[in-house]
Amino acid sequence: MAIEQQVEEIEADAAKAIASATDEAMLEAIRVAELGKKGRVSLLMRELGGMSPEQRQVAGPALNGLKDRLASSISARKSELELAALNVRLEAEREDLTLPPRFEPVGALHPVMQVFEELAAIFTDMGFAVAEGPDIEDDFHNFTALNFPPGHPAREMHDTFFMKPAPDGSRKLLRTHTSPIQVRAMLANKPPIRVIAPGRVYRKDWDATHTPMFHQIEGLVIDEKVHMGHLKSCLTDAFSRFFEVPTTESRFRPHFFPFTEPSAEMDIRCDRSGGEIKVGEGNDWLEILGCGMAHPNVLRACGIDPEKYQGFAFGLGVDRIAMLKYGMNDLRPYFEADVEWIKRYGFKPWLLPTVTGGLS
Ligand code: PHE
Repeated sequence: MAIEQQVEEIEADAAKAIASATDEAMLEAIRVAELGKKGRVSLLMRELGGMSPEQRQVAGPALNGLKDRLASSISARKSELELAALNVRLEAEREDLTLPPRFEPVGALHPVMQVFEELAAIFTDMGFAVAEGPDIEDDFHNFTALNFPPGHPAREMHDTFFMKPAPDGSRKLLRTHTSPIQVRAMLANKPPIRVIAPGRVYRKDWDATHTPMFHQIEGLVIDEKVHMGHLKSCLTDAFSRFFEVPTTESRFRPHFFPFTEPSAEMDIRCDRSGGEIKVGEGNDWLEILGCGMAHPNVLRACGIDPEKYQGFAFGLGVDRIAMLKYGMNDLRPYFEADVEWIKRYGFKPWLLPTVTGGLS
């Protein structure tokens, strides 16, 4: 058979096979059958050696041309198949970005933050503003302006974390209570003042019921003719709302704080008989906060005339009342960042508590 004819036949044959190949393995088989060591084209090329120069002049280019054309149509088909495979994959992995997201939030609001929000809702409803202050305080705001004289033993009541001394010898500290925010509020505003101040506070304490960082909420009211009766009714109302009970009965025990005079600890009536604490009824008392009338020295240190203005202040531990309200008996998991715990005790962050809409 003339070489041209053989070339034509092989070419037609291979073209058909290449066009019908549906994957890379089939293409490779075709390549081996035609161009491989023992392929049809390779075997024909081997015959070139036995040909006359004239024959070789015709057959050589014909075979080389065939070899090139087959190689390039195999590789063209290969790209075609790759593209088709890619399209199949893209179709299978297609995402409809216009679909609404599946909303499965893993985070939740920590009970302490929830209680902050609840108390903020209660007190802002009573006309209080929310004030803030820095965690790192100076001696003036945390102690001196609050009527802790230098060297006074009351400074030792708080096991304070101090920073390294500055060149002038002064030492900043981590605030030991939220009361320095009282000082800031009085220095920044003219009476009447009504603020609450939530915040982190720090003391060198560490056991089952004490952590070196915990949370307080401070309250301060400064006006003319403010007295303990206002303090009492404001707080008993607030706790009725907070614990979602019709009334709260309170009792005040004398206490000492340098920045209030008189000072008291407030207890509210509760029932411990059933193993858990129920607020609002029963024959037991639950210590809930420290409070008192703003000391004249504090008012003076903050530029307020104690002859004209009085005020009351209170400070309560938020971690403890969060435990009480939401039935948690251990403080430590508060700060362990355990996902299972927060799933169980956390709150949906978009359900902000309001006095009228419900707190918890
Ligand atoms: N700062 C006090 C404490 O941390 C609480 C308090 C605040 C007492 C305001 C009276 C008035 O113990």
